[in-house]
Amino acid sequence: MSEWAGSRESCWAEVDLDAIKGNVAAAARVSGTSVMAVVKADAYGHGAVPVARAALEGGATWLGVARAGEALELRAAGLGAPVLLLGYTPPDAVGELLAADVSLTVWSPAHLDAVAAASRATARGAGVHVKIDTGMNRVGVDPDAAPELVRRVLAAESVELQGIFTHFACADEADPASGVTAVQQARFAGVLAALEPSFARLDAAGVARPLIHASNSAATLAVPSAAHDLVRFGIAMYGLSPGAAVPLPASIRPALAWKTVIARIAEVPAGEGISYGHTYHPSARQRIGTLPVGYADGWRRTSGQQVLVGGRRVPVVGRVCMDQCMIDLDSVPQARVGDEVVLIGAQGGEQLTADDVAARWGTIGYEVVCGIAARVPRYPV
Ligand SMILES: Cc1ncc(COP(=O)(O)O)c(C=O)c1O
Repeated sequence: MSEWAGSRESCWAEVDLDAIKGNVAAAARVSGTSVMAVVKADAYGHGAVPVARAALEGGATWLGVARAGEALELRAAGLGAPVLLLGYTPPDAVGELLAADVSLTVWSPAHLDAVAAASRATARGAGVHVKIDTGMNRVGVDPDAAPELVRRVLAAESVELQGIFTHFACADEADPASGVTAVQQARFAGVLAALEPSFARLDAAGVARPLIHASNSAATLAVPSAAHDLVRFGIAMYGLSPGAAVPLPASIRPALAWKTVIARIAEVPAGEGISYGHTYHPSARQRIGTLPVGYADGWRRTSGQQVLVGGRRVPVVGRVCMDQCMIDLDSVPQARVGDEVVLIGAQGGEQLTADDVAARWGTIGYEVVCGIAARVPRYPV
């Protein structure tokens, strides 16, 4: 058998779409409300279209994105579910987004005017969600100005108020029911109370009230009182924890595995140097494996990394190159060229999670999965 048998690519990601479906169902169960699957950033590096499809099959009712192109990609793939562009919309993209029936976030009268004008120009109704800045201090209308903006949305012709939402800054921290999250919830509640007369008029006219939403993954799991009509479920839908203080329910499973193969094995004598800069020198003769994965794939040029070979953790040695890196195979004498190597995922009884990798990189699991480069193929499994 060829030593290349079994390898489909130099490195690749496997995305477990059943895990996505199950994780969405878990979010619905835990929150007791509807789920927006947050599939921005190519579904956190997992592949937007297959993940969005799986999330909808798992019961999600909305899809959330961050860029105009992300929304249009979903539509081009034939996905007709409600899509909300959660943040900034470039003014010149509004017409195309309305034509594609993408809902937009507004937080200023200027946005509203632009959306209303585009809606008139394209003869397409515009669905909008008003974003309230209750303390993230990123985007959104100030709570004091929110009731007036919402009234203007309600009065605007061909604009439909589909939602009112806010975003938590610290829901992933220990005891989120107090502190910052509680302050944000109170500010949000104040806005909603001020809007109650407007909502009552909608009831009287037989018009649906806007969806109220606030929770990200952390709040979905840790702040039940923030569930409202919809939770915006991102990182935990991928089976990753929003933070150390927010344990995942046992039913939530990681969806992504990142794999490569051993491309070459060499016996390197003591005193030789490995990779650029010769920062690593075997102290005795050592079996060095070469992996076709590097920083251009998103595998950072950071020392102290590990991968799984033969169900064991083995160290990456020497500098990570753009397309390759080297590993110490002394602890796995049975390893052969062509063997599968796991960067993120399980092998044998061992596991390396995106959070393990993030801890080594001094970052969060979000950045690890979002940073897997576009050239790494994603395979649904
Ligand atoms: C507005 C908004 N809602 C929801 C989410 C989902 O957050 P998470 O991935 O922590 O669930 C994000 C992601 O950052 C967001 O920006």
